[in-house]
Amino acid sequence: MATHPASLTARLSFLMTALTSLTAVAGEVPGTVHPELWPAAAHGRLSRPEVERLVDGLLARMSLEEKVGQMVQGDIDSIRPADLATYPLGSILAGGNAAPNGDIHSSPQAWLDLIDDFYEASAARPAKHRPIPVLFGIDAVHGHAHVVDTTIFPHNVGLGAMHDPALIEKIGRATAEEVAATGIDWTFAPTVAVVRDVRWGRSYESYSEDPAEVALYAPAMVTGLQGAIGTQDFMAPGHTLASAKHFLGDGGTVDGRDQGNNLSPESELARVHGAGYPPAIAAGVLTVMASYNAWQGVKMHANHGLITDVLKGRMGFDGFVIGDWNAQEEIPGCTKGDCPAAILAGLDMVMAADSWKEMYETLLAAARAGRIPMARIDDAVRRILRVKALAGLFERPSPKARPGAGDFAALGSPEHRALARQAVRESLVLLKNDKGVLPLDPRAHLLVAGDFADDVGAQAGGWTLDWQGNHNSNADLPAATSIFAGIRDAVARAGGTAVLSPDGSYTSRPDAAIVVFGEGPYAEFQGDRETVELSPGDRHELALLRRLRAAGIPIVSVFLSGRPLWVNPELDASDAFVAAWLPGSEGGGVADLLFKGVDGKPRYDFTGRLAFSWPATGMPVTYDGDRPQGALFPRGYGLADGTSGTVGPLDENSHLAADRGAPGTLFQSGHVTAPWSIYVSDAKAEVRLTMPSQPSPEGAVTVALGKDGFTGEWPGGHDGVLRIGGRPADLHAAAAEGMAVTLRYRIDAPPAAPVRLAALCGKRCAGAVDVTAALKAAPVGAWRTLSVGLGCFAAKGADLSQVEAPMALETSGRFAITVADIRLAREEGACQGPS
Ligand code: BGC
Ligand code: BGC
Repeated sequence: MATHPASLTARLSFLMTALTSLTAVAGEVPGTVHPELWPAAAHGRLSRPEVERLVDGLLARMSLEEKVGQMVQGDIDSIRPADLATYPLGSILAGGNAAPNGDIHSSPQAWLDLIDDFYEASAARPAKHRPIPVLFGIDAVHGHAHVVDTTIFPHNVGLGAMHDPALIEKIGRATAEEVAATGIDWTFAPTVAVVRDVRWGRSYESYSEDPAEVALYAPAMVTGLQGAIGTQDFMAPGHTLASAKHFLGDGGTVDGRDQGNNLSPESELARVHGAGYPPAIAAGVLTVMASYNAWQGVKMHANHGLITDVLKGRMGFDGFVIGDWNAQEEIPGCTKGDCPAAILAGLDMVMAADSWKEMYETLLAAARAGRIPMARIDDAVRRILRVKALAGLFERPSPKARPGAGDFAALGSPEHRALARQAVRESLVLLKNDKGVLPLDPRAHLLVAGDFADDVGAQAGGWTLDWQGNHNSNADLPAATSIFAGIRDAVARAGGTAVLSPDGSYTSRPDAAIVVFGEGPYAEFQGDRETVELSPGDRHELALLRRLRAAGIPIVSVFLSGRPLWVNPELDASDAFVAAWLPGSEGGGVADLLFKGVDGKPRYDFTGRLAFSWPATGMPVTYDGDRPQGALFPRGYGLADGTSGTVGPLDENSHLAADRGAPGTLFQSGHVTAPWSIYVSDAKAEVRLTMPSQPSPEGAVTVALGKDGFTGEWPGGHDGVLRIGGRPADLHAAAAEGMAVTLRYRIDAPPAAPVRLAALCGKRCAGAVDVTAALKAAPVGAWRTLSVGLGCFAAKGADLSQVEAPMALETSGRFAITVADIRLAREEGACQGPS
């Protein structure tokens, strides 16, 4: 059969294209992006002719210095208003630990004063155009919780369990009003992560494991914060800019490690982790924050395909992309003060928290030298100015003079608190209610026990007053109501009694016990876990539950946590079990659900349902597509009052490998054990290892993970430190028990200069032991063990009450060592220091 030549050519060329694209996919570099796999949306949600005209006019008159300045954000801990006269920065933030005068208890007035000073300094800059005020941002991620006396809403993990987008929108509006009252323009929220491994310490910032739910709640929060797009209310006074974060894949890193690597195929990255962005963009979100994590080995801050082609291209995002806190330093070839690669990838503003000065100078030099094209700079600045204009920054007076600013009655107002209390009621999930023990009779005599019964810091969780939120006592949050206080008020009104007894002891036998316990507060990476078992090393709360149970007292457990955890023994030891997440300042909302009215009828029902599957073992659930495997209670589970279906007895074996997550393990089986992290540093700065290998900023030392453990390599010539660190721990008791830091190691290149092993306890606090002789004696290539007693570090000056790095190796000569494991353990023959 004759074939028409034209058609043959057409077919051949089709075949060629198909073959080329096949080989392209097969031989493709990991991390290559295919925008056509992503949902497409039209541009223009944010375009208004008068705004674009204003921006055109400014761009035409701005100097290069001014343009570059707009692209840099500094943190109040390291910049003063007066600096803006010399450095024309576009934005200022208050990071997790930053506050006016370094005091996290600063009054709302002190915040407003500081923000006003920054505004005035930016507006006073001489220019050939109208002044361009700074944008001021803060993490108001569960209410305006960085500032005292505000309403603290449940963290997102609780909001997800409400399944009530209308209430989320109201919470967004209330949060915005409180933020605006202190003169702040912008909150770094909402987090739209879809978390697929709750060992991640930021799981509580996520609404759900289900992309469809995140896609519903993200736009609700954005609308609440910014006002509804397309209406007069959009960015009207009392609203605040939102940030959908962290783009992209933060909830899907390997083992749930913070800032780690997401290995999802692109289609899954788009469908699961990307789900929140198109609806947030449709709702008019004005900024998107790039993520610390990598996708398939490429850090998001360097990913042109995802930031520029997908987010700004395919998804039609016309706002600006803000970087995350110094995240640029994790890009190969960058430091925190020098990183054209991030701008080239599409970042519009760098969160150069403490490196803003150097960042401004290096970006300026790169722009002058043409290493960053002018078109890229203009695009970034256009986006930033567009957002500033849409936020009304060019029309509004200074923060102090704005309507609503200084109206501190909005902070923790009765209306906002009522909203938060409603959110608490809607977010609690009843996991077990055997024999219908709930609701309780408020006329009863109750014992209120457990470490967190009267602890508003534990209720509030991380990102409260400061970053980790782990130092907050009731006195720090005087406007908050503890769970005990809520119970006491509820029973007092009805004629019952409630006795607070954290350790569960009592003199008069109670009719029932309410035991409040769970995870203490944490935030980024310090909250990462090795397993999802509640507290492998400490069972005192379980013992308390069992003691009360043995005495025949009905037990209602109220569990505070940032994520579902394996608590089968605690579930078995309780009659009723309530997952209360991190409810925030309105502890009264818990009592609302625990008690019936004096008429015997329930006052409110449990309507919260799980947004995350609850794990059946000590390891998190896994997913086959969107179907979770290994759940004890599936997503959507939750009992209503009066339902008393029997739960248990449950399998009390966590099914964890014996040494998995064993207390005291710092590094094991080729990975650094959560919540510990490996850091490398030199004279320039320190960087955390989040990828298979990481050089220190000046290359004095490089750490790489391999099959035998991690290898630290010092080329020699510069002083470099490799350390394992986490949140400061008190190791006095461990030292008294004769514990030592023990490394199993192999020398790959013998030390050419002295090597010190140290315990670090703060900026200028360390105890270092010279281990050169021991390391020199070890033959190259052979495995050896080195133990140094904690007492030895103390003898050399370490303050054992606040050890943040129990293991640091430092040298300036050539040296290479591979370490297979590190633990804190009793070790015979270790240097024990003076007794
Ligand atoms: C976090 C962001 C946060 C920023 C500013 C970063 O470390 O990842 O979520 O908005 O700090 O505090
Ligand atoms: C800051 C946070 C930031 C974190 C990132 C903290 O010191 O206060 O805002 O998110 O560092 O590492």
